[in-house]
Amino acid sequence: MTISRRHFLSASALTAVAASFPAPAIFGTEKNKKYRVALAGCGWWGTNILNAALASKTVEAVALVDVDKRQLETELNNVKDKTGSEPKIFGDFREMLEQTKPDIVINATPDHWHALITIAACRAGAHVYVEKPICHTINEGIAMVKTARETNRTVQVGTHRRVSPHNQAAMEFLKSGKLGKIGHVRAFVNYPGGTGKITPDSPIPDGLDWDFWCGPAPLLPYNPRMHPRGFRQFMEFANGQISDWGIHWLDQVLWWSQDEQYPKSVASVGGRFVLEDNSTWHDTQHVVYQFDKFDLVWEHRLYSGNPPEKHNIGVYFYGTNGVLHLGWLDGWSYYPNGTDKEPAEHGEPKLDKPDDQNIANLWADFIDAIQTGRKPVADIENGHRSTTLALLAVLSQKLGRGIVWDGKNQTIPNDPEAVKLLARKYREPWKYPE
Ligand SMILES: NC(=O)c1ccc[n+]([C@@H]2O[C@H](COP(=O)([O-])OP(=O)(O)OC[C@H]3O[C@@H](n4cnc5c(N)ncnc54)[C@H](O)[C@@H]3O)[C@@H](O)[C@H]2O)c1
Repeated sequence: MTISRRHFLSASALTAVAASFPAPAIFGTEKNKKYRVALAGCGWWGTNILNAALASKTVEAVALVDVDKRQLETELNNVKDKTGSEPKIFGDFREMLEQTKPDIVINATPDHWHALITIAACRAGAHVYVEKPICHTINEGIAMVKTARETNRTVQVGTHRRVSPHNQAAMEFLKSGKLGKIGHVRAFVNYPGGTGKITPDSPIPDGLDWDFWCGPAPLLPYNPRMHPRGFRQFMEFANGQISDWGIHWLDQVLWWSQDEQYPKSVASVGGRFVLEDNSTWHDTQHVVYQFDKFDLVWEHRLYSGNPPEKHNIGVYFYGTNGVLHLGWLDGWSYYPNGTDKEPAEHGEPKLDKPDDQNIANLWADFIDAIQTGRKPVADIENGHRSTTLALLAVLSQKLGRGIVWDGKNQTIPNDPEAVKLLARKYREPWKYPE
């Protein structure tokens, strides 16, 4: 067990590891292979992904990594119960990569860790299944795409709605043209909730390496709301509701818009108007994205649902013939213009337990992509474009004004103040990825 070691491997050591790895999967020759998989981030979602991977019989778990020994122990017991085998456990992903040389790394760490671990895993020869949002600042995402391509690794992003049966059916409906001409799209997550209350900081729990957990982000005092799972509510580690939940729906819009993968401009308004707790995310946000052929509006509220419109989350596509709502537990519904009280057509969801998602389908796609050499359905480039939509909104919100986005060159032209926010300073000794 290596969790307490503060030993940072040198760049040359990692390069040597990368050099010792075999060439990328040769198309079609790996059928029936059991991939040696490592899980980084043994929390809620990492467990779900690893369980789906183990159930698919395509992998053996060779390593588990977490900076919290309690999470590691729970995950180790989970894997032992399911498979009878015992993966090695680590506190430092670099040591794991060096010692176990996995074929696949599942990266289900908090958002501020996605870039460094994904890049190190690709460089060490592993294919990566990385969770959404793919990064914390946009330039990390650019580096992740570049590294995936340079190392010829398959990198799947956890935007499983691209393989969910009802999302696919809705997308077919949209593409059939039945909605007529679509000029406006609205994506939203609105949940009712109270104002919240302050949770005091507390001593760091035994077994948690809090300094490593914070990693490249600022070292904040430990607060039980941050870990496990609560990091998404703190802007040092994540980017709030739009990048946590919102990215799933923004991704659906880019899946639909196909030849338009980035907006020309973005403007966000909102703030913290209602919440009284110690989280730092925006409780209210409205964003307008200008594309060439349509505009997209994002909205979220953390304290009030959407009862007059029935649907609390999802995307509305507004066409000349009617409106399509693409949702989650409520499937998809088509409301023709003029008779919009009840859906004229509806598709029920087909979701897997325990969390009503379709991870198994996304895992199957990932393995097939590795074996055939094709791009996976939620390729890193797609995940990067969707994450960028969310992060541009946060950037505009921080600036307090709209921005122009040059999506081809992935920059904000003639706007040095805004360009600075495409990256952030990492805490030493971590280096921002180039
Ligand atoms: N695709 C989806 O539908 C979906 C759903 C839920 C969560 N997620 C994503 O999964 C990720 C994890 O979320 P969660 O809810 O499981 O969080 P979690 O807090 O339950 O788990 C994260 C784990 O990562 C560990 N960790 C932190 N730094 C680490 C490091 N450097 N190396 C190894 N482990 C480290 C933490 O100790 C924790 O155990 C997030 O990015 C989240 O957005 C995706």
